[in-house]
Formats: sequence, structure tokens, C-alpha cells
Amino acid sequence: MEIIIQPTQQAATEVAARIIARLLRDKPNAVLGLATGSTPLSLYQTLISMNLDWSRVTTFNLDEYIGLPREHPQSYHSFMWENLFQHVNIAKENVHIPDGNAADIPKTCQEYEDQIRAAGGIDLQVLGIGTDGHIGFNEPTSSLASRTRIKTLTQQTCKDNARFFGSEKDVPHHVITMGIGTIMEARQNLLLAFGPNKARAIAEAVEGPITSLNPASVLQMHPTVKVCLDEPAAGELKRADYYRWVYESKPAWQTF
Ligand code: GLP
Repeated sequence: MEIIIQPTQQAATEVAARIIARLLRDKPNAVLGLATGSTPLSLYQTLISMNLDWSRVTTFNLDEYIGLPREHPQSYHSFMWENLFQHVNIAKENVHIPDGNAADIPKTCQEYEDQIRAAGGIDLQVLGIGTDGHIGFNEPTSSLASRTRIKTLTQQTCKDNARFFGSEKDVPHHVITMGIGTIMEARQNLLLAFGPNKARAIAEAVEGPITSLNPASVLQMHPTVKVCLDEPAAGELKRADYYRWVYESKPAWQTF
């Protein structure tokens, strides 16, 4: 894991944006895995401002609520179109977001896996992290080998996400999420976390044991993971000084 600690959220976001921009320039038909939540918002704004060419890019989103109409302001369909897709030249047919209104959920999950495979796999997966360590909507005790499927949210995640819905009772309890096994097959993972309320989950994921109790900890087994943090999110890392030293000592060809 490469831990990149920056003084501010904006600085950490800019590093992440440069990593993605470089990928899109090197591979114009890249397959990106995308995330929702408040964390990647500044990343999407930065990418939009970079005027990159998205015409041949394919995207797969991590997750979606079940039963929320696509046009609902809090659906991840709405989120992605509002915050990224409508501002870039992506082809509509290249955008993939799980269908939370499918009549046959297991079938649509299998089809999603098939679509990712048919696209050649995900080159780079953007990830946020829940306060309980979840990635996508893979809550603690998710199988570390899981594939795209239905999940039930924890009460903590419903509480965390209530701020988007106005009240906790309006947060759907069920979701479709790419599995941890699916995420682990991305060629590269880029995890972003900002703010002090992510510090515990990040410390456990980076320096704790690999355990399904913190699903993000499985990323320790992935060969190419970058973790972009602001100072508060790095606040509980025991080896933060080492990560800073590594980043500052990078050979020029390794910098972003
Ligand atoms: C949701 C999403 C996750 C995201 C998490 C953190 O649960 N499914 O992909 O990482 O929220 O959200 P935020 O970035 O708003 O803290």
C-alpha cells in the first residue's frame, strides 16, 4: 500500500486527480471504477476542470440503493450524472451503475460482473471508506471473496448516510454492491479518505490485521493500492512519519 498524506483534502484530491488523469492520457479507453459519497466530490470537480477526454472511457460504479427510483436525488445514478458525467464527454452507453430497480436482483448482479469482464476488467477503482471500514457497500463481515450482490446496510451506515436523505428512516436498507472479490480484481485501487471521523477506519485498514471486520483491510493483499489522505484522516496511523518520508523521497519517475 502506498500511503499519501497531504496537508489538506484539496491537496490529497489533486494527487488522486493526477493519477487518474495520467491513466486517461496513457490509456484513452481506460475502464474506471467509480465511487459515490461526499469523499470523491472534490475529485470529480478537479477532474472536470482538467478537461480530459472521456469519449472512450468506460465506467462501472461500485454500488446503488435498491428500490430508489433512478431519478431520486439520492440515487447513485443521479449523483453520478449530476456530479461528473453531465460535465464530461463520456458516452452514455459506456456508463454502468448497478440497477437497484431490477426485477431480478441476482440476475442483474451476475450481468454486472459479466459486463466488467467483457470490458476487460477495471483499470483503476476509486474507493471511499465508511466509518466502519466498508468499501463500496461491503459492510463488516462481508466475504472477502464476495462478488456483486445484494447487501443489507448496518445501522451505523444508515445513520451516516441519513444526512443525505434528511432522516434515517428514509435511507434504504438494501443495496447492490460490487463484491470485495470484484474490487480486488481491479488492476489498481485508489482509496481516498478525509477528516477525523475516518481516522480509525483508515488506521485499522492500513495497519491492522486483515479482517472482514474492516473490509478495506483486505486491500493489504492487493499489489497496487494508493491511499490519499488529508492530515486528520491520517491522525491515527502509527507509521505516518514513514509514509511521509517515502512520499517525499520518491524518485522523480515515480512522482505523480
Ligand atoms: C457510502 C458509499 C461508499 C462510500 C461511503 C463513505 O456508503 N457506498 O462507497 O465510501 O459512503 O461516504 P462518504 O464519502 O460520504 O464519507
